[in-house]
Amino acid sequence: MKIFVDTANVDDIRTACSWGIVDGVTTNPSLVAREQRSFEEVVREICEICPGPVSAEVVSLEAEGMIQEARKVSSWAPNVAVKIPMIREGIKAISVLSQEGIKTNCTLCFSANQALLAAKVGATFISPFIGRLDDIGHDGMQLVGEIVQIYENYDFATEVIVASVRHPQHVLDAALIGADICTIPFAVLEEMFNHTLTDVGVERFLADWEKAGLKL
Ligand code: G3P
Repeated sequence: MKIFVDTANVDDIRTACSWGIVDGVTTNPSLVAREQRSFEEVVREICEICPGPVSAEVVSLEAEGMIQEARKVSSWAPNVAVKIPMIREGIKAISVLSQEGIKTNCTLCFSANQALLAAKVGATFISPFIGRLDDIGHDGMQLVGEIVQIYENYDFATEVIVASVRHPQHVLDAALIGADICTIPFAVLEEMFNHTLTDVGVERFLADWEKAGLKL
């Protein structure tokens, strides 16, 4: 499973990339707003740090506006994937952008039928928001399973990005279900490293090594 980092914070992206585990980055308007920097500057910088796909979202709600914005945002770097919301106008825009070879990430997906429509118009990525579904008492991971199944049934090339991840269990479930990608907030990525037995183990090995006076 590919790992994307779900943030617009360049320091966190740099740190995560230095671990060698990051295949791409996703942002959204809320994450970019948090950084209090120009959108273009942030996107260009992230694209330089990370060679993988970097999702940057349009804000227009009309297909024509989305297409114009997508052309602009995708001109900033070759690895930009333009995030487009899962609405009628968004699907219309993705259909045009796919033909132009512009990478798209269909976002705010909450049902398998929505994911089917996005694949039909050639979206590069589909982003089911699992945490937000869990928040309202639904089973977000069940949706991911349905999408993975449908895409397999018909050999759709659209890749599934499990988004709106809240904790490491979401990541594990995404991997078990066979999602292509999981986009992970930096704090959750950090949690994935941790296990008390690892810490105790490292401490014990070092103590034994030092007690025996060994050298490397
Ligand atoms: O990048 C989109 C997505 O991951 C949003 O997550 O936590 O705002 O539901 P969240």
